[in-house]
Amino acid sequence: MPVTHDQLVDALRPVQDPELHRSIVDLDMVRRAEDIGGGAVAIQVALTVAGCPLRNEIRQRVDTAVLALSGVTSVDVDFTVMTDEERETLRHRLQGGAPAGGHGHQHGAGPQGHAAGKPVPFAQPGSRTRPLLISSGKGGVGKSSVATNLAVALAARGHSVGIVDADIYGFSIPRMLGADRDPVAIDDMLLPTEAWGVRCISIGYFVPDGQAVIWRGPMLHKALEQFLTDVYWDDPDFLLVDMPPGTGDIAISLSQYLPRGEVFVVTTPQPAAQKVARLSAAMAAKVNLSVRGVIENMSWFTGDDGRRYELFGAGGGAELAAELDVPLLAQLPLVPALRAGGDDGRPIAAVDPDSEAGRAFHELAERVAVELRPNKVFSPALKVV
Ligand SMILES: Nc1ncnc2c1ncn2[C@@H]1O[C@H](COP(=O)(O)OP(=O)(O)OP(=O)(O)O)[C@@H](O)[C@H]1O
Ligand SMILES: [Mg+2]
Repeated sequence: MPVTHDQLVDALRPVQDPELHRSIVDLDMVRRAEDIGGGAVAIQVALTVAGCPLRNEIRQRVDTAVLALSGVTSVDVDFTVMTDEERETLRHRLQGGAPAGGHGHQHGAGPQGHAAGKPVPFAQPGSRTRPLLISSGKGGVGKSSVATNLAVALAARGHSVGIVDADIYGFSIPRMLGADRDPVAIDDMLLPTEAWGVRCISIGYFVPDGQAVIWRGPMLHKALEQFLTDVYWDDPDFLLVDMPPGTGDIAISLSQYLPRGEVFVVTTPQPAAQKVARLSAAMAAKVNLSVRGVIENMSWFTGDDGRRYELFGAGGGAELAAELDVPLLAQLPLVPALRAGGDDGRPIAAVDPDSEAGRAFHELAERVAVELRPNKVFSPALKVV
C-alpha cells in the first residue's frame, strides 16, 4: 500500500525548522510529499533563504520522521527556496503581523522603549520575558562567562533563553557560547544563532575578523535597538544581556529599551573590585533599574588537596550584597576548565554540569528562575482597567 500525502504530512508535522522552532508544515515549507513507489518517498522543502546553513539538519529531521512510517525504506529530500512574497508572508506571520520597515529613522527610543515605528517587544506591558542584565563596573571579572553559563543553565532547565552581546567593542559571546555561524536574515528580520539551546546575537557577527569597531553614541544606540527589535527572539522566558564594562551610554540605552531589566552585579572577592562594582549598582539606580543580586566570581580555587585557596581575598561579594541589600546569589570557583570552555565554545555548565563550577551555575540558574521569580504577572489579560 502506498503512503498517502496526508500520512506524509502528518509524519512531517512534528519536524521543526531548527531556527524558527515551528513545524515545517505550519510554516508552509513542505512543497512535495509523495510516494514514488518501491518504498521510496520524495519530499521537497522550501528553505527561507538559499544556502541555509541548516539544510543538512533539516534533511536529517525529515529523513528520521518519514522513515518511521511503515513501508517507507528511502527518502529523497530536495530543497527549493521561498519566493520573496512567500518569505514576506512568513515574516509577517512570525512577527504577528508587525509592520515592516523601521529602517532609516532618526529618533531614539521614547520613554516606553518605542523606537520610531517599531516597539521593543520587551518593553511592552504584556511581555513575559525577564531581561537579565549582567553587569559590573570593571572589566575582566567574568561578566561574559557568567552570562554564557547562566544562559546555558537556564536553557537546560527547559526555559527559552536568548542572549544579547551588548559589549559592542569587546564582543565575546559567540566564541564563548560556540555560536559562531553567521545569523540568517529574512528581509529585515534577523534569526539569532543558537548553541546549547541558547539563541544569541552579537555585533561580532557583523564585523570582519580582526577589525576594530569605532562607533559613536547614536550608532551604538541604533545597533542595540536593532538587536532588540529586528531579531526574531520569539518571546523567550529570559533575555540575558552581557553588558560592556563601565557605566556609559549602553546602560542608559538599555534602561530605556528594557525598563523591566533586572541587574546582576558580578564582582571578584577583593575590595578594589567591589568599589567599581558598586558604581554599576549606582548607575542602575540612576536609570531606575533594580539590582536583583550579586554574583561573586573567582571566589576560590579548590586544590588537589581539596582545600579552598582564596586567591583574590574573601568576602567582597557578601559585603557588596549587604550594602545593596540584595542576595549574594553565587560564589563561583576559579577553574581552568571554565576558561578553556570559554575559549572553545564549550561552556562548562553545558559540558560538565556536575563539576564544581558547573553545579554552581546550575544552582545560580535555579535561584534566578525560582527564588527571584517576579510575583507580579505582566499579562494583559489580567490587567484590571
Ligand atoms: N571562574 C573562572 N575561572 C576561570 N577562569 C575564568 C573564570 N571567570 C572568568 N574566567 C576567565 O577570565 C577571563 C575574563 O572573563 P570574562 O571575559 O567572562 O570577563 P568579562 O567581565 O566579560 O570581561 P570584559 O570586561 O573584558 O568583557 C576569560 O578568559 C574567562 O574565561
Ligand atoms: Mg565580557
